[in-house]
Amino acid sequence: MRILVLGQGKTGKLVAEVACERGHAVQGLDVLENADARALTPEFFAGFDVAIDFTTPEAVVQNMRACLAAGAKIVVATTGWYAKLPEMLKLAESTQAGLLYGTNFSIGVQVMLKLAQQMGASLAGVGYKFSIVETHHVTKLDKPSGTAISIAEMVQRGAGSKIEVPIESVREGDAKGTHVLQAVSEADRVVLTHEAFSRRGFALGAVRAAEWLASRTGCYDFRDVYSEL
Ligand SMILES: NC(=O)c1ccc[n+]([C@@H]2O[C@H](COP(=O)([O-])OP(=O)(O)OC[C@H]3O[C@@H](n4cnc5c(N)ncnc54)[C@H](O)[C@@H]3O)[C@@H](O)[C@H]2O)c1
Repeated sequence: MRILVLGQGKTGKLVAEVACERGHAVQGLDVLENADARALTPEFFAGFDVAIDFTTPEAVVQNMRACLAAGAKIVVATTGWYAKLPEMLKLAESTQAGLLYGTNFSIGVQVMLKLAQQMGASLAGVGYKFSIVETHHVTKLDKPSGTAISIAEMVQRGAGSKIEVPIESVREGDAKGTHVLQAVSEADRVVLTHEAFSRRGFALGAVRAAEWLASRTGCYDFRDVYSEL
């Protein structure tokens, strides 16, 4: 496949590496070549099967608009833009484009989301109080992390109501991403932790998602499709 990787920062570079290892032809673009999505014309997209975005909350919206308007396919791993999701879904539908987005492309976190839902279903009704602590590197732009928001949503989905799930955000060093969900009662505590040791899990998940999306159109949340990859 021909894969376009938008963003050549900490994770985007690794995505390009993993995609090459898996036999794909890869082109990477960073802000110098693509400020305000200026490289992303329909003709340019025609040269690729799928794009993968690991940029910033501002850049990704411009990149998605350009990609979806061209009817192309994009895997969006960048977080912090979800207020624009309804607009993007509408645009993708109108052009029969392909959009696969996710707050976390590691399989381990996807399993944690399922377990969080189960904790919400089993513990919220019997007096447990939930909270989340997420820890990331100091240059992360969004807060709380998209993954922490997804975990809270899954607890609420399990509980069947919008119970409070406060999120504490810690920013330190080059932390790759740790999420701790706890449920506390007067008698005990249940703790669920996911700790990323490297960014490779995200990169591999995003490339596998791109391979999956390449033969489809429509809009997908990674948490609903990861088990099909
Ligand atoms: N969903 C996931 O699994 C997952 C995992 C890791 C990171 N992320 C998210 O991915 C994003 C990037 O993370 P990172 O740690 O690699 O950040 P980073 O700051 O290291 O890299 C971002 C890169 O995007 C580039 N960029 C900015 N505007 C651009 C444009 N218009 N076109 C192309 N490139 C542009 C920047 O110059 C930079 O090199 C963040 O939103 C982060 O939260 C998601």
